Amino acid sequence: MSLNQFIFLFITINLFSTFECQMSKEPRLEILPNQAVQRRPVNKPLVLTCSPNVEQKELITDLKWKDSYNNTINPKQYGSQPPIIYTESLNINQLMLVITSLSESLAGYFYCSASYANSEYLEEKVKIETFVGITFRDAPDYQNPILNSDYVVKCMVTASPPASIDWMRNGDAIKSSEKFIIKHDGLLITNVQESDDGIYTCRAAVIQTGELAERAIRLDVQIKPTVEPLEYRYEAIEGEEFSVKCLATGKPPPLIQWIKDQKDMSLADRFSVVPHNGQMSISRVDEFDRGVYKCIAKNNAGIAEEETRIDVVVKPKIFQLINITVPVHGESTLVCKSRGWPVPIVTFRRYGSMDEFRQGSQGDDGRITLEQTVDNEIWEGTGTLFISDTQRSDDGLYQCVARNKGGETFGLPHGHIAVEYPPNFDHMKDLPPVFSWEEREANLSCMAMAFPNATIEWRWNERLIREMQDKFLRIVEDGPRSDLMVTPASRTYYSNFKCIAVNKLGREEHIMELREGRLPPPVAQAKPIDVTATTITFEIIGPAYEPGLPIKSYTAQYKEERSLDWSHALNRTWTPDTPYVVENLRPQTMYTLRFAARNDVGLGQWSAIRVQGTPSRSVPQSPKILNQFTHQEEGEIPIASSVYSDKFEMTWSRPPDNGEPIDFYTIKYCPGSKINNVWNEIGNMCNEINYIAYTFSNQVLKDLTPDTYYQIELRAHNAIGFSLPTHIYMRTANGELKKELTEEARITISSFTIITISIVGIILLVILIDFLCCVTNNMGIIALIFQRKSHVGATRLERDERRVLTNGRTEKRELIHLNQRHNDEIIGKHSAV
Ligand SMILES: *[C@@H]1O[C@H](CO)[C@@H](O)[C@H](O)[C@H]1NC(C)=O
Ligand SMILES: *[C@@H]1O[C@H](CO)[C@@H](O)[C@H](O)[C@H]1NC(C)=O
Ligand SMILES: *[C@@H]1O[C@H](CO)[C@@H](O)[C@H](O)[C@H]1NC(C)=O
Ligand SMILES: *[C@@H]1O[C@H](CO)[C@@H](O)[C@H](O)[C@H]1NC(C)=O
Ligand SMILES: *[C@@H]1O[C@H](CO)[C@@H](O)[C@H](O)[C@H]1NC(C)=O
Repeated sequence: MSLNQFIFLFITINLFSTFECQMSKEPRLEILPNQAVQRRPVNKPLVLTCSPNVEQKELITDLKWKDSYNNTINPKQYGSQPPIIYTESLNINQLMLVITSLSESLAGYFYCSASYANSEYLEEKVKIETFVGITFRDAPDYQNPILNSDYVVKCMVTASPPASIDWMRNGDAIKSSEKFIIKHDGLLITNVQESDDGIYTCRAAVIQTGELAERAIRLDVQIKPTVEPLEYRYEAIEGEEFSVKCLATGKPPPLIQWIKDQKDMSLADRFSVVPHNGQMSISRVDEFDRGVYKCIAKNNAGIAEEETRIDVVVKPKIFQLINITVPVHGESTLVCKSRGWPVPIVTFRRYGSMDEFRQGSQGDDGRITLEQTVDNEIWEGTGTLFISDTQRSDDGLYQCVARNKGGETFGLPHGHIAVEYPPNFDHMKDLPPVFSWEEREANLSCMAMAFPNATIEWRWNERLIREMQDKFLRIVEDGPRSDLMVTPASRTYYSNFKCIAVNKLGREEHIMELREGRLPPPVAQAKPIDVTATTITFEIIGPAYEPGLPIKSYTAQYKEERSLDWSHALNRTWTPDTPYVVENLRPQTMYTLRFAARNDVGLGQWSAIRVQGTPSRSVPQSPKILNQFTHQEEGEIPIASSVYSDKFEMTWSRPPDNGEPIDFYTIKYCPGSKINNVWNEIGNMCNEINYIAYTFSNQVLKDLTPDTYYQIELRAHNAIGFSLPTHIYMRTANGELKKELTEEARITISSFTIITISIVGIILLVILIDFLCCVTNNMGIIALIFQRKSHVGATRLERDERRVLTNGRTEKRELIHLNQRHNDEIIGKHSAV
């Protein structure tokens, strides 16, 4: 109830009372409410109204209120805030005393006084006694005791006279007990448990005033956080992601923080912390992330923490590998240094090999020792490869390999052991002399193997050529290769020259000889080994020649014997070791031939003349079959095998035609069997082909039976007749596997497949349309069948219907069969061609 409403109520009541008391005569003042002593609550507003009870109210003057010290109470100033106590005129003869908020200090007498007809002093008083209503001074609605502690549910009540307090929990009265003790400032709960949660009601009553008040307090037990123990130590890997969880419970759920060196990790770069589940993640671990971390879980009830160590595995990095240069037989020390945590173990492997050196001395090569050291202080692992008595074979690239549990690192670039050695001419040992003739400039090229590179000087008869000023001797370059260019202006230059190589490890000499080149001697022997009407094949035994000046070719000159002049002779030149065949000769003719060998210097002397006649023209020589034979024993007919089961490709070489050109070949092939090496031909199964050979001499035999022997007879034919036959056996491959369809057949099949599919499709469509017609309009073939059979009976009809329904599929299958048959026929026809 607001102050205004209150005042309004009072005015109404007062008006009534005024009206009632009109009857009294004695002039006096009347205070309403009219009890002489009034007990009023503090902190509440109060209004007292003083009105004269006289015959002639207009004679009342100087109506005022005074407090217990006889100080006049002033009216509220217009426009100002109302003071705690003030007066207010209701109408001319009524004056209100308003106390906006009663306090204990205002308790006492209040006087209302006035003058009546300027002669009579009227005064009336009222005594205001105060009392304090029930107030909950310290009784929060929501309280959070901590588990396992003793807790006073706070409910401080002030009241005057004092109130008595009792407690209820979830509506039931609480008796004092060991668990609950009612105290002046609240309810003591000993050893709070979660089960003590609930609504507690604190109720205060003042017997004197009958006042009753209650306060509902919600109790929510809180539990201190506990953190699940962390491992003593975690391992994170450099460059990778790492995360660790800190599990904590409590009520309310605690918030979790990770701390390292007093630093909140949720604020650090690369780190993230999820406060409610305690997960700390590091996006890309670096080596400085190692250290002691603390997980702190905090809620209103308390704080708990756990400590752990995070170690960072740092992958090995190779930071030093210095190339070395060692003289041969010296000691090599190749050092590779690597840093990482745990400290890496370092080893080596040779370039191109996966095998690594072992610690200690190598079993297969005791000269090589690997020493591995680890320095935990500076995180450095060192591998040292010692090679005592270093060999030239040790020269090369060595890769450093460093490993720890974080991984392995292969060093790049490779380390290089360069082995120095004195010059040598080992690679030039067996070189032939250098030849020159007719004052051609000769190149004596001398190359020394050495490291470091050797310098080369030349001596001739112990004299330093560099100082000789001989214009026929010219030196190009002085190492590691040097060419001495000699122009043999006189015989003396055909001699030995000394090439001398020097480097810091030694000196080596090599003698190079310049020799005069001569024409090859005459051919020792040329003997005919095969004579036909048009060709003669020779066997040539060449002359002895000098190393360094080999025979490059042989030449034969030939003419008919009756022609005496060599100047019109023909010639034929062969490179050595080819068949020496003189072709295109005339049959039945005598020829004279002579031979000579050629080297770089020139064509040698002609040999003695040889006379050789050709026989008369005749049938060609037998062709020679070139197929691979599986086996062929002396005097036996060779056996070839075909990789195909149905065909065989035969190739042969064109035989000498013996004076008349070959016009065709005849191939006859007959299937047969070969039992115990005895050939049994299957009668009347032979095929014969005539093959007109222009360029190629090969022929594919087709339509053969798989896994079958054939005897093949090949003859060449010219105007005179057939050559003697050449025979081979041939066996076709087993089974159908290699049976090849010709391209033509394949195309036929695919077009047939397409046609088949189309026909089936069209038929299905027709059937479908017909079926639909039957169902909807009772028209079409199916409908016709139906109508024809309908009189036969219902069961029969049903059966027919089913057949019609499946008709589509049945018919399709038949068609496919049909087409397959057709196809087979077609293939048969084609392959027969
Ligand atoms: C105030 O005046 C009244 C009468 O007018 C008297 O009875 C009372 O004792 C006075 N009080 C004080 C404190 O002077
Ligand atoms: C060592 O030699 C190798 C091969 O020649 C080369 O690739 C590498 O860069 C050299 N290393 C150093 C440190 O010079
Ligand atoms: C000499 O011979 C060597 C090896 O065949 C060749 O490399 C070099 O160029 C030649 N020197 C001259 C000047 O022709
Ligand atoms: C040594 O000789 C080789 C071949 O001529 C050449 O490539 C190389 O550069 C030389 N080395 C030095 C250090 O001169
Ligand atoms: C061989 O014959 C050709 C031309 O027929 C001729 O140029 C050449 O000089 C002859 N060779 C010899 C060595 O007679």
